[in-house]
Amino acid sequence: MQKDVGAIMGLYPTPVTVVGTVVDGRVNFLTIAHVGVVEHGTFLISVDKVHEFSDRGIRDNKTVSVSLVNQDMLVAADYCGIAKGAKTDKSEVFKYHFDEVKNAPIVDVAPISMTCKVLSKFTVGNFTNYILKPVHTYVQEEVLNDKGKIDYVKASPILFEFQNAQYLSLGKVVGQCWNYGKGFRN
Ligand SMILES: Cc1cc2nc3c(=O)[nH]c(=O)nc-3n(C[C@H](O)[C@H](O)[C@H](O)COP(=O)(O)O)c2cc1C
Repeated sequence: MQKDVGAIMGLYPTPVTVVGTVVDGRVNFLTIAHVGVVEHGTFLISVDKVHEFSDRGIRDNKTVSVSLVNQDMLVAADYCGIAKGAKTDKSEVFKYHFDEVKNAPIVDVAPISMTCKVLSKFTVGNFTNYILKPVHTYVQEEVLNDKGKIDYVKASPILFEFQNAQYLSLGKVVGQCWNYGKGFRN
């Protein structure tokens, strides 16, 4: 029997990401788990207006990096979700480099890291939702399969759920999409 637990957000888990910006000439990383695909080539990140420091960087530069987080990065990623860029220099938390997308520091150790352009933004409540378009997507070579596709079991992105404020790891592959349901009517 299902129980109505109220109008709570049930849409978890979501991937943990580290968003890289440059603010006042300094690299800053903040952790963002409220992310979502809005169409094949664009996705959004939802940034609380209280993060005025990071928000200013994203708004002014109109570029950003978004990196998925694996277990090896998790302590540092969690730290980037605690420490405030306005008060704490987080530029040395991850080693990084740049491509031609300015002010979008690529986290060297990330399994997957995208340099992105900001296409647009819209406000919902206290959150600025930035619509991003990846310009480059960098994947660790060992995370690519023999067809050159990203193997997400190998990438092993950490997931987040808000109800219990916990991190989860990914499970195993359970079926092939657009194939698994073909026998439903049989
Ligand atoms: C797992 C995790 C997920 C988070 N997700 C978001 C998010 O989706 N949006 C947001 O605005 N803040 C989120 N935060 C909070 C910010 O990362 C945090 O307040 C950070 O310290 C802000 O850094 P800044 O002051 O350098 O911008 C999250 C924190 C953690 C630990």
